[in-house]
Amino acid sequence: MCGIIGYCGPRKASDVLLTGLKRLEYRGYDSSGISVGSAEGLQIYKKEGKIQVLRDTVPESLEGNWGIGHTRWATHGGVSDVNAHPHCSCDGKIAICHNGIIENYMSLKDRLEGEGHRFLADTDSEVIAHLVESFYEGNLEAAVKLSVSLLKGTYGILVMHSDHPDEIIGARNGSPMVLGLGDGEMFIASDVSAMIAHTKQVVYFEDGEVVRLDSGGYEVTDMRNRPVDKTVDSISWELEEMEKGAYSHFMLKEIHEQIESIPRAMGGRIDEDLATAVLGGLNMSEMELLGVKRIVIIAAGTSYYAGRVAAYLLESLARIPSVTELASELRYRNPIVEEGTLYFAMSQSGETLDTLMAVRELQRKGARVLGICNVVGSTIARESDGGVYIHSGPEIAVASTKAFTSQLTAMYLFLLKMARMRHMAWPEGKRFIAGLTGLQPGIKKILENEDGIRKLAKKYHKARDFLFLGRGVNFPVAMEGALKLKEVAYIHAEGYSAAEIKHGPIALINELTPSLLIVPDDHLRDKVLSNMKEIKARKGPVIALCVEGDDEAAQIADDVFFVPKSDELFSPFLMVVPLQLFAYYCALELGRDVDQPRNLAKSVTVE
Ligand code: G6P
Repeated sequence: MCGIIGYCGPRKASDVLLTGLKRLEYRGYDSSGISVGSAEGLQIYKKEGKIQVLRDTVPESLEGNWGIGHTRWATHGGVSDVNAHPHCSCDGKIAICHNGIIENYMSLKDRLEGEGHRFLADTDSEVIAHLVESFYEGNLEAAVKLSVSLLKGTYGILVMHSDHPDEIIGARNGSPMVLGLGDGEMFIASDVSAMIAHTKQVVYFEDGEVVRLDSGGYEVTDMRNRPVDKTVDSISWELEEMEKGAYSHFMLKEIHEQIESIPRAMGGRIDEDLATAVLGGLNMSEMELLGVKRIVIIAAGTSYYAGRVAAYLLESLARIPSVTELASELRYRNPIVEEGTLYFAMSQSGETLDTLMAVRELQRKGARVLGICNVVGSTIARESDGGVYIHSGPEIAVASTKAFTSQLTAMYLFLLKMARMRHMAWPEGKRFIAGLTGLQPGIKKILENEDGIRKLAKKYHKARDFLFLGRGVNFPVAMEGALKLKEVAYIHAEGYSAAEIKHGPIALINELTPSLLIVPDDHLRDKVLSNMKEIKARKGPVIALCVEGDDEAAQIADDVFFVPKSDELFSPFLMVVPLQLFAYYCALELGRDVDQPRNLAKSVTVE
């Protein structure tokens, strides 16, 4: 993971780097550092802890107009000042920042130590600084190219040399990197959030490309020194979208934003007259879509649970056999790619390495892979064969919330299109559209009643274990609720099918282990009520998430939160919002670092 940033231009580099790092902090936040170049050479500051700790360490007086910075999510080597980046060559003239993992660093390190290089840190990344030093003969770019040709693994690397003022070399393989074009200044970073305050003109890199930049321009070449023509893209996000505004946390802000982000994902994509969806980005003709015989969705984390909801509905409504699989598992199990199977890679960031590598593996085998991504221009979005942007706006909190419901929205649209091409008649299509476009008031009402969730969190946040139970389309929603509670409140929680508890988890039930049951008004409601009674019979405390007017469920449960009534198809949207709020308020009660929970990072670009 980790976030990297570089700057060349007229401003004070330390200010640009520190502000940029703050925006990249979601990528990792256990330590950080900067290297700033000036006439005196390179000044390096690095500190364990959040960016604020580094900010407090860097002197106001630090001069210098070019530099690189890094925020770390440790993979190799513990969290410490010395393991923080930038890492330096023996002569102190070269500094590097690295995002990714160098798999062959041990053999390289042995070799370099044999040649007399002294290593200070206990990380894989430090070898890069020494490798560049070993190849350096006056041309920094050439030394970087020779170095990266020996690296195995993934990297986004920035390199600077004190004898090359106003110059940064960047190289990429598997880790994201984007250049920001300013007026007489250049930025380079892991993602656009680090530079959006300064420029909206960006250039994305591909693996195997190397960039040399200075304040006046940039050149991109491949590993054989052939120039690469790049196109300049514009970012549509606004800086304000990346600010917390009046909210105490990004997570709360993003939960609330779902009122707008869900409709935004539908914008211009519904054909009311024909009662279907218009998804031009799929890059597939109607004939091709008709030929789809099977759908496989690959994803990780929250996106995986959104995928599970989508697969359930694709199969039941569009009548297309569909499954969702963890990208990390699919990649290594030598999957069979059959003609007629359509793959989706679902990823908010579009950078999750497990998902990206699975995409590449599938494409290698001839599969057509569509992307469902939020971040425009992200690697998965660019490498997939088409897809749908979910347009939920920047999601900053590490725990994903609004992206989940926007991913659902995109997949519901796809489902509508596929179902209308098959068994779904026009009136049903109209009803589907009415349900999907009519979600807003229900979500608004839940958010207006969030105090009810807050009270539940006050009552239950001390529990050490939790069960989240649902059935059918809400089984993955239960798993997502459990994931949220683990992520932000650090409470152990299991998401299960309510039907399955009798096969094991019921042994955990006692007075101290609450269960939260999702009880939509669907064909499985009565079964869930029976499960609820089984839990009550074993003295387990029960919270029921049920639809308004379900007095029977309310009577069995100890506590209840009512969600507005909806068609059962759309219940995942209405059920997940209270679960997000519940995790948020439990985390708040427990004094957790809600937006940056321990050990996590938003964009996981390592295996
Ligand atoms: C990380 C994040 C999760 C996220 C998952 C998948 O683990 O902490 O919040 O759900 O990655 O991310 P993606 O960007 O691929 O949706």
